[in-house]
Amino acid sequence: MKVNPLIEALFDVIEDELVIVGDDRRLIMANKAVKQRYGISEIGEGFCYQVLFGFEGPCRGPFWSCPLEEVLEARREKMLLLSEGSNVKRRYTKVVWTPLQDPWSDSWVVVELRRDVTAERELERVLLSRRHQLQVLSRISSAISSPKELDQVLQVALDNVLELVNGSVGGILVVEGRELRYRVHRGLPASDIGSLRISIGDGIAGRVAENAKPLMGTGEEARFHPDFWALEGIEAFISIPLMARDRVVGVMNVASAEKRTFGEEELFLLTTLGYFLGTVIEQAHLNERLAKARERYQALLQHALTAQEQERKRIARELHDETSQAITSLTLSLQALLEMAKSRGIGDAEFLERLYKAYSYAVYAGNEVVKLMKELRPTLLDELGLATAINHYAKETLQPQGIKVTMEQKGQVRRLPSEIEITLYRIAQGAIGNILEHSKAKEARILLEFLPEECLLIIEDDGQGFDVKKITRVEPSGRGAGLFTMKERVSLVGGSCHIESQPGRGTKVMVRVPIPGKDG
Ligand SMILES: Nc1ncnc2c1ncn2[C@@H]1O[C@H](COP(=O)(O)OP(=O)(O)O)[C@@H](O)[C@H]1O
Ligand SMILES: [Mg+2]
Repeated sequence: MKVNPLIEALFDVIEDELVIVGDDRRLIMANKAVKQRYGISEIGEGFCYQVLFGFEGPCRGPFWSCPLEEVLEARREKMLLLSEGSNVKRRYTKVVWTPLQDPWSDSWVVVELRRDVTAERELERVLLSRRHQLQVLSRISSAISSPKELDQVLQVALDNVLELVNGSVGGILVVEGRELRYRVHRGLPASDIGSLRISIGDGIAGRVAENAKPLMGTGEEARFHPDFWALEGIEAFISIPLMARDRVVGVMNVASAEKRTFGEEELFLLTTLGYFLGTVIEQAHLNERLAKARERYQALLQHALTAQEQERKRIARELHDETSQAITSLTLSLQALLEMAKSRGIGDAEFLERLYKAYSYAVYAGNEVVKLMKELRPTLLDELGLATAINHYAKETLQPQGIKVTMEQKGQVRRLPSEIEITLYRIAQGAIGNILEHSKAKEARILLEFLPEECLLIIEDDGQGFDVKKITRVEPSGRGAGLFTMKERVSLVGGSCHIESQPGRGTKVMVRVPIPGKDG
């Protein structure tokens, strides 16, 4: 059978390879693309497998054989994707066999169209792997940004990296002084790995930490180092430094059971991830240190405040038992002297005046001591409770300066643990002191509300107010210490203190303190 020269010329224009084979497998036609590829000028009369490939019999691969007969029998088109070559240089060809009836001879032929789809496949592979990388990165970054413990974040990162590089074993080690310790791992013997310490400079991770450079190698090389615990079946590994700025804070070890190398792209991705995770580790370290410092500070403050309360109590008692008693006796003696002078008819005016002055001083000193005692140790608080004590203190302090005081009590009024009562009382003292000193207010309002699980204290004035944002620290003069101490005091009993104020708009101090339950 011959093909029309015009049609043959048309076929030559097609870039894909096109072959027409008879039902006896004789090659009828091959277009220019085929001839060029297989280096033939004339196709002659041979079988297709002979002419094109120099084979003895019909083509077959490990998983396929030439479907020519099947196509002719079924009169149906067939498509196969064939791959040839090594893993490194693989070529993919899409082949379509179409049965056609020759209108002149009534015999059947098969048109075989071969298209090289290697580039498409490669593009598809790259796209898929990019998508996978993105998914992995997004999973890791969402773990990083959610409030999780460091180990949880590292475990998510490790598992995703293992999935990405098709790894079977791995772990993340963190630098502790001059050593590295596994924080999380997968596929390593859990019981032994906890106690493993790798010195900087030793093993795989130790060298990576020392040089701040990734390291990769074969299973044979991994076996000599403690990192993978001489695990059987490792064929390749990669170890990446985890960097925070220019410091190594950890190392990620990943090993695979496949004989493989890690490409430039994977290396780049893992190195970038190393910077990510390094920052996360550093951040966790900083947070840990900060939390410890905060704990220490709170313990110290608690200690100082307790000591202060005790000292105040002691001084108040001493004032009451000793000083106050002595002044009372002095006052009484002076009073007796005055009366005696009167009854004995002593007329020395200067003497009488001096005696009276001494008596007045004694009364004054007595009143001052009582005030001081109240300031130091609010006996009213112990005897009559929070609201009465605060109300009394506010009225005594503010009313003489012409500031009106109103006090309201709400909710289920009850006694609170003394630690909470004294905290709220001292805060009220501070806030009332500020109203007196700074507010220029006409009125102060106090609200004490008892809720089932917390207690609210609000102290408000209609004075000149201030810019709260500007008080950010304790000034050398001590300005700010009052507000700062209020907040810290409340946080020691687990509560919160909020101050609202604006120049010209008065000031509002709001305190919320949880009341521990019967078991708390
Ligand atoms: N009720 C208030 N009215 C107006 N200004 C206030 C009031 N309370 C606090 N302030 C302002 O906040 C500053 C800080 O208060 P505080 O920490 O108690 O320190 P101090 O009272 O020693 O100045 C005060 O100096 C004052 O300017
Ligand atoms: Mg103050």
